[in-house]
Amino acid sequence: MSAKLAVLFLLMTIGFAMPVLLGFRSVNDIQLPNIHTDYQPEQPISYSHRLHAGVLNIDCQYCHTGADESRHASIPNLQTCMNCHEQVAGQTQEAKNNIQNLYVAWGNGVGEGVKWKRVHNNPDFVYFNHMTHVRIANYVDDKGNHSKGIDCAVCHGDMKTVGVARQHQNLTMGWCINCHRDQNTRHAKIGLEARAPVNACDACHR
Ligand code: HEC
Ligand code: HEC
Ligand code: HEC
Ligand code: HEC
Ligand code: HEC
Repeated sequence: MSAKLAVLFLLMTIGFAMPVLLGFRSVNDIQLPNIHTDYQPEQPISYSHRLHAGVLNIDCQYCHTGADESRHASIPNLQTCMNCHEQVAGQTQEAKNNIQNLYVAWGNGVGEGVKWKRVHNNPDFVYFNHMTHVRIANYVDDKGNHSKGIDCAVCHGDMKTVGVARQHQNLTMGWCINCHRDQNTRHAKIGLEARAPVNACDACHR
């Protein structure tokens, strides 16, 4: 076993022991390392993707800026929300209450903000880059259609239909590698170079 792999195994052991050492506060705090499909923690503000990305049809990257130009897709800060909510205070009583919570968190720019609970959480020893997948990758779908970049929905499901965010895929190593293997086969069929890493451990573990 190489030194790097030994470190990986060590990290894993610590990773599993940590929650036990720290003690859980509630069942909702338990998240197995990134293999937790359908994980959908309750969020401090009842923000709805169904309403904003679905009904209002706001582009994903209006809020998650950087998904196509950096490693991480960002979580929007409250200024982004206030672009609209400075005017939009809500119509139904429920909406008014929920938006009121937003105003309190905002506090005219000096409030506490919102501590959104993280949904997806790959371990640190995994290298995943949004930019390459969202914009640069050559992607061939199951019908053989070729596009530049992979749609968010392929990995995150149809976020236009969920309320608070939910983890759609298990994010295991097998999930990454299966897609890469399929891609390489489909690429070869239409004469594209097969470049998605399958056996190169250090492409995903740097
Ligand atoms: C108006 C702003 C806004 C828009 C538009 C939006 N989101 Fe989000 N998104 C958020 C906020 C706020 C959170 C954090 C709260 C939560 O997890 O629900 C979030 C969370 C997420 C997460 C989970 C992040 C994590 O913690 O792992 C994913 C994935 C996601 N959004 C994908 C999308 C996709 C795909 C679209 C487009 C179909 C989209 N979002 C549109 C604001 C937005
Ligand atoms: C090829 C699969 C894939 C595609 C395509 C993809 N994502 Fe992700 N996304 C992931 C993975 C894997 C993670 C977990 C990364 C981590 O924990 O480091 C993630 C995490 C996130 C997060 C949490 C913050 C972060 O970067 O860790 C947000 C928000 C998000 N994605 C939004 C989007 C949006 C918006 C799009 C489309 C513009 C998109 N994603 C496209 C796989 C994908
Ligand atoms: C492009 C404009 C726009 C942006 C940006 C936006 N919203 Fe909204 N939001 C709306 C509209 C329109 C409604 C519907 C209000 C109504 O009439 O009831 C709404 C409703 C809401 C509600 C009440 C939903 C309910 O029925 O309970 C909450 C909470 C909310 N938004 C939170 C957020 C958060 C958090 C962000 C930033 C991550 C955000 N919004 C960004 C336009 C926006
Ligand atoms: C839906 C299919 C799909 C999934 C799921 C997927 N990838 Fe990829 N990945 C691709 C494609 C397509 C390419 C680029 C192939 C090309 O353009 O030649 C790629 C390229 C890469 C590369 C090389 C480019 C770079 O960013 O350095 C890495 C590393 C990578 N993926 C890591 C991951 C990891 C880690 C995961 C899982 C957390 C993952 N991928 C999940 C389709 C996928
Ligand atoms: C396409 C990306 C990718 C490639 C290539 C890859 N891995 Fe992984 N690996 C991951 C992801 C994502 C995880 C974390 C999720 C999980 O544990 O399944 C992981 C987890 C691991 C773990 C932690 C143990 C476990 O199963 O949870 C070990 C050890 C590991 N990889 C070794 C390797 C070795 C050895 C290779 C080369 C033969 C390799 N990986 C190639 C993405 C990749």
